[in-house]
Amino acid sequence: MTTYLLALDQGTSSSRSIVFDREGHIVAIAQKELTQIYPQPGWVEHDPMEIWRSQLATAREVLAKAKLQPADIHAIGITNQRETTVLWNRKTGQPVHHAIVWQDRRAEPLCAQLRDEGMTDTIREKTGLVIDAYFSGTKLRWLLDNVPGAREQAARGELAFGTVDSWLMWQLTGGKVHVTDVSNASRTMLFNVHGNEWDADLLKALDIPASLMPKVQPSSSHFADTDAALLGHALPIGGVAGDQQSALFGQACFEAGMAKNTYGTGCFLLMHTGGEFQPSHNGLLVTSAAQTDAKPQYAMEGSVFVGGAVVQWLRDGLKAIKGSAEVQSLAESVPDAGGVMMVPAFTGLGAPYWDADARGTITGLTRGTTVAHIARAALESIAYQSAALLQAMSRDAVAAGGKPVAELRVDGGASVNDLLMQFQADLLGIPVVRPEVIETTALGAAYLAGLSTGVYTDARQLSKLWKIERRFMPTMGRAQAEESMARWERAVRQATAT
Ligand code: G3P
Repeated sequence: MTTYLLALDQGTSSSRSIVFDREGHIVAIAQKELTQIYPQPGWVEHDPMEIWRSQLATAREVLAKAKLQPADIHAIGITNQRETTVLWNRKTGQPVHHAIVWQDRRAEPLCAQLRDEGMTDTIREKTGLVIDAYFSGTKLRWLLDNVPGAREQAARGELAFGTVDSWLMWQLTGGKVHVTDVSNASRTMLFNVHGNEWDADLLKALDIPASLMPKVQPSSSHFADTDAALLGHALPIGGVAGDQQSALFGQACFEAGMAKNTYGTGCFLLMHTGGEFQPSHNGLLVTSAAQTDAKPQYAMEGSVFVGGAVVQWLRDGLKAIKGSAEVQSLAESVPDAGGVMMVPAFTGLGAPYWDADARGTITGLTRGTTVAHIARAALESIAYQSAALLQAMSRDAVAAGGKPVAELRVDGGASVNDLLMQFQADLLGIPVVRPEVIETTALGAAYLAGLSTGVYTDARQLSKLWKIERRFMPTMGRAQAEESMARWERAVRQATAT
């Protein structure tokens, strides 16, 4: 009998459920969009009940699409948008506020205060993170300070905090478990990634009661069994990881130096760094990788804020194309970008530049420039930003006595764009490898669940399941690639000059 694994993939823009067979092939997919709530500029919220209901609905739908009975599912894996913060009442199961989404900037004043108090080094050493409103800790503090009665209820032990995985597991078990995994915990700025535990000093510094915090488990372990009434059968939840760490796992990047880049609205580049905490000297984050046992595993992470979003801007802002799919043919209608360089710093620049005030810039315009050159430059900007991140990671790896990254595994919606992938390989001078299954985020969660429930014996078996669909080999000479990167860096300097 075939063994099936169900991955619940709760992302920023939608809830999805995917059924995989034991070879990692997709059997069926169901998806529901999620409402984005923007109460004021810089604020982004989700309704936690909508997160839950849409996720449950897709889980039911995908079973029907796959023509499977709930009992045919061997185990469930959960992966999720990270950092997004939910606070709920343990008795009623009701959230006390909308979820504050990872993109939300409202906690910036609290972060500034922490920086002024000299917490930067302590936080970097304990959590691997830079102080930023991106992470859950200051979002949670904002909720305690601003939701009427929340602090008193918290003091009485009546509230529970969780990232989206915790919230879903609470709901999936009818409130029986309050739990998370190390990879999600490592995005809160409250988690000590050396000891794999909530950090008492950080909880104190942020004035957050420890009673709010979920229990933390390895990413591949038995978290709970679902309430039988929900899906028609009690199913074990055997794997949980934040979406980027889950994608790293789904790409079978299990060893130090292996890296993946997910090309979505933004891009998330992660490199596994093994079992040793290795601080970055190039502005990258250190984060917990998905763990199959109690031993810490780390990854270095950098993100490109505007990746595929630059194509949306070509479509909606510049009106240069009607649909996103047109970008490749428009960009390919010219042999190169004709000297045009675009830095899409619409919301500032992240690692390795970290300049919140940088703004978008287009350089190198001539009388001969056409919209096709701009489209090509827009597409190339995704590769330039990713290349700058990967080069920073390689510098960190070499400084720590390791080797530079040897190949880049790719996934996410924009990874299907061959022109972009070829240019990425050209800039980096290493192969860019696209696997057969690019739904690696969900696949990682399914693998984690399969590992803890005996479907797979070890990571080696998973490495064998990872199959290449296409390998893009660098064709550009190194001198030309270096000159291109140097021109990129010059354009970045113009975007950051205030
Ligand atoms: O850190 C944020 C990230 O986890 C969100 O991912 O794919 O939901 O946009 P995504």
